Amino acid sequence: MAIVLMLLAVLMVGCGKTDPVAEKASGYIDSRACESCHAQIANTYRETGMARAFHKIGEDEVPGGAFVHDKSGRKYEFLKRDGKVFLRRDEVGGGNVLEKEIQYVLGSGNHARSFIHRSEQGRLIEMPVNWYPEKGGIVAMSPGYDRADHMDMRRAIGYQCAFCHNGYPKQAGTSLFDDPVFEGELPEGIDCQRCHGPGREHAASMGRGKIFNPKKVSAERKMEVCMQCHLETTSYSLPNSIVKFERGIFSYDPREALGDFITHFDHAKGTGHEEKFEIAGSAYRLRQSKCFRLSDEKLTCTTCHNPHQKTTVAAIDAACSSCHSAVVGSAKHVAKAECASCHMPKRRTEDVVHVAVTDHKIQKPVVGKDWMAAREERHEVMGGGSYQGEVVRYYPREGDGDLYPALAQVMHQSNLKAGVVRLEAALQKEQPKHPAYYLQMAQALHASGEAAKALPYYTKALELDPKYLPALRSLGASQVRAGNLAAAKVTLEKATSLYPKDALSWLELARANRGEEAAKAARKAIAAEPELVEAHKMLGMILMETGDRAGAEAAFVAALREQPDEAEVRANLGNLLAGKGDLAGAEKQYLAAIRYAPGMRAGRFNFAVFLAGQKRFAEAVPHALEVVKMAPKDLEALDLLGNLYMAGRDFRSAAGQYRAALAVNPAYGRALLGLGTALGAMNDFAGARKYLSLAANGLDAGVRAEAAELLGSLPR
Ligand code: HEC
Ligand code: HEC
Ligand code: HEC
Ligand code: HEC
Ligand code: HEC
Ligand code: HEC
Ligand code: HEC
Repeated sequence: MAIVLMLLAVLMVGCGKTDPVAEKASGYIDSRACESCHAQIANTYRETGMARAFHKIGEDEVPGGAFVHDKSGRKYEFLKRDGKVFLRRDEVGGGNVLEKEIQYVLGSGNHARSFIHRSEQGRLIEMPVNWYPEKGGIVAMSPGYDRADHMDMRRAIGYQCAFCHNGYPKQAGTSLFDDPVFEGELPEGIDCQRCHGPGREHAASMGRGKIFNPKKVSAERKMEVCMQCHLETTSYSLPNSIVKFERGIFSYDPREALGDFITHFDHAKGTGHEEKFEIAGSAYRLRQSKCFRLSDEKLTCTTCHNPHQKTTVAAIDAACSSCHSAVVGSAKHVAKAECASCHMPKRRTEDVVHVAVTDHKIQKPVVGKDWMAAREERHEVMGGGSYQGEVVRYYPREGDGDLYPALAQVMHQSNLKAGVVRLEAALQKEQPKHPAYYLQMAQALHASGEAAKALPYYTKALELDPKYLPALRSLGASQVRAGNLAAAKVTLEKATSLYPKDALSWLELARANRGEEAAKAARKAIAAEPELVEAHKMLGMILMETGDRAGAEAAFVAALREQPDEAEVRANLGNLLAGKGDLAGAEKQYLAAIRYAPGMRAGRFNFAVFLAGQKRFAEAVPHALEVVKMAPKDLEALDLLGNLYMAGRDFRSAAGQYRAALAVNPAYGRALLGLGTALGAMNDFAGARKYLSLAANGLDAGVRAEAAELLGSLPR
């Protein structure tokens, strides 16, 4: 029976591969239909975390009180209004308020709840704060958000979150590279068919038609049913897995071999990542246990868990005892129950620092470790501070060729140089037919500083599919960066006419244009994705350039509503407000810019000029000093600092700055003028005459007249 079923599975996989979406459409039904005949299973399943992993927010799930995040200086508060729930963000000190409705919760709340806003465009936006049950229930930052520059209320969750936390949605894009937009009704929670496969025929035939039962297949296949979601080797940059490019992300069918759908990867051995402990790695850890490795494939997830109901201590003890009866019976081993409490302790995870879960690496108790000790969140940026080293194949252990292993080296830039070489060879050898492979190669070349070699790969990708959006968009962006604006426009106009809802293509098109055309494209980008802060920012810059100061101001304000720590936007807004005489408003923006980006030269410089303009010279000095420290050869900054010292009557320090400027450029007129004036003020008239004459005869027309006049006023 089992063999027949497996053969059937293989056949169906064959069909599934050619058109997973069509197969999905025909084979799946609403899993609520299973309840009528399998009421008992449905009733207990409903109580599990998996059944509640994604759902509409309930009244009792709305945390009370306000939460202040010190690092970003923002305050969050949940509000109930007209039967709806909102998250409100304020900046500490008031202002810049943003509210988003929360329609869904991701996570049962056994360990955490993430709050989800579903935007008008159908994106699921993760909120920056989560609820965690620790210490009786706390609100704290969502994983990855405990930093000053977190993404606030604009990060769209990808299809991957939905893959692991939900039933298959009907109207969603299919590829990992698609914009993650969900339309229509969303399933709520992991449903029966995620483990049992399509059930239409079975349900329609009163249960006579076949349906997949994991009980009847090999241990390996049984494990894979669970590993589709529980085998995350790491949630940090690596990548932990790659879904086959030919496959839709919501096309995995539990009847097929997991390796036909996805390949999993891991850090190379000996790089210090052997003992990592992360939230979605139960299977990864279990597979490291002696119990798993040395029990001839007798140990699977269902040895200890009945996925339809909550796990009990008695069930676990029975499972352990089934293999360890000798130990249980032995007088030397005193404990006879609650085996997991010592051998599978709960541990705080590295990637979600407010959550502790059961360690599935079964082992002798490790003494002297405090597994629950508080942790700081670890942050990394791809390519900088993230893992650098070889990425190795993890599951399936063996595979066909080097294409995916080679991709794994480059996709998160973990092993870029070697990966580019490997990927090139693998493409040569396998000649795959999907454009994504060639696009990845082009992007890897860009990342490794060999952009010039990327063009043939873009061309190849677009040859295979002239309408392949990710390639059009990426090619257009690379043309913009290379300054090839005419070509960029052609590419991006094609992308936007084929995909008018693709915000990123519009944004690149805005970059490729000037003036009105550019503004139009930026506005389209905003309409397609209002959370796209770069588009608001871009629009502001364009309007500033065209002289529409009010329009620019509005665009910058909108950008800051989405992302309050955009320092460059703050500084630009400061300039605009200063320009229209709103001094208090401008000062607030400049100060914020400096707080968010202490190293931003232009912002500090402008602020110093702004303060000087109000005769607040002493306050301006530290900012000008800071700029000079960052750029000791910046002539304008040296001149500004010199002028500020002059205004404070500190002529000696002023002269020092002008001299520093002249050391960089001996003909710099403003410094000649300044130094002459400073020396004059210190009664060194010979010195003053020397420099003022140089300035009066110098190249800088702007200072010539002034220098001549001062020269004339010097005592003979
Ligand atoms: C590879 C599959 C996978 C992906 C991708 C994934 N998760 Fe999870 N997630 C899990 C698993 C498995 C657990 C349960 C771990 C446990 O209980 O030991 C979990 C737990 C959680 C929890 C805690 C739920 C609870 O109360 O137990 C939250 C919240 C969560 N994930 C949010 C997210 C978000 C948001 C994303 C996308 C950014 C995401 N997850 C992506 C598999 C995944
Ligand atoms: C997380 C995966 C998962 C989900 C979700 C799931 N099942 Fe199962 N189901 C299994 C596994 C695994 C088995 C085999 C258990 C075993 O080996 O004893 C199984 C077995 C069954 C069986 C056969 C019982 C038997 O004794 O052989 C039925 C009927 C069933 N499931 C119905 C459902 C229904 C109805 C739902 C939705 C309410 C559902 N399942 C949800 C994994 C799942
Ligand atoms: C109209 C009634 C009916 C509906 C609807 C129904 N089933 Fe069944 N199911 C049955 C009957 C009858 C059996 C076989 C008797 C048994 O073993 O309980 C069965 C058996 C199963 C088995 C075990 C198969 C095996 O070969 O061991 C699974 C798994 C299962 N159903 C899952 C589902 C899922 C998932 C759904 C929803 C997609 C579903 N069923 C909908 C009636 C139904
Ligand atoms: C579609 C993805 C998916 C599949 C398939 C899946 N799980 Fe899960 N599982 C999750 C997620 C996500 C969570 C965390 C849900 C939460 O609490 O919000 C989870 C939670 C659990 C839990 C914690 C207890 C609970 O109440 O849910 C157990 C145990 C578990 N899974 C076992 C299994 C087993 C055994 C299998 C295979 C038969 C399996 N899972 C298949 C995604 C999946
Ligand atoms: C399917 C059979 C099976 C089950 C179920 C099982 N184990 Fe094991 N376990 C093994 C085997 C096989 C070994 C390796 C024995 C050896 O080292 O020769 C082992 C080893 C161990 C060890 C020694 C580990 C080490 O690193 O030296 C411990 C402790 C242990 N098991 C505890 C448990 C506990 C607790 C449970 C239940 C939570 C459990 N086992 C469930 C088969 C099993
Ligand atoms: C040897 C027994 C055993 C096996 C095998 C096993 N688990 Fe568990 N699992 C446990 C125990 C014990 C717990 C903790 C139960 C509790 O505290 O309620 C647990 C809890 C979980 C949880 C929730 C984590 C938490 O602490 O809340 C998930 C998710 C899970 N298991 C998934 C899996 C998956 C997936 C597999 C297969 C790869 C698997 N388990 C295999 C014993 C096992
Ligand atoms: C109070 C903590 C505790 C509990 C509860 C506990 N154990 Fe142990 N167990 C230990 C310690 C400590 C050792 C290691 C002894 C040693 O180093 O030789 C151990 C060793 C083992 C070993 C390895 C034996 C060997 O010689 O390699 C197995 C298997 C095991 N336990 C199974 C179980 C099972 C099954 C249960 C539940 C019936 C259980 N344990 C409950 C503390 C516990």
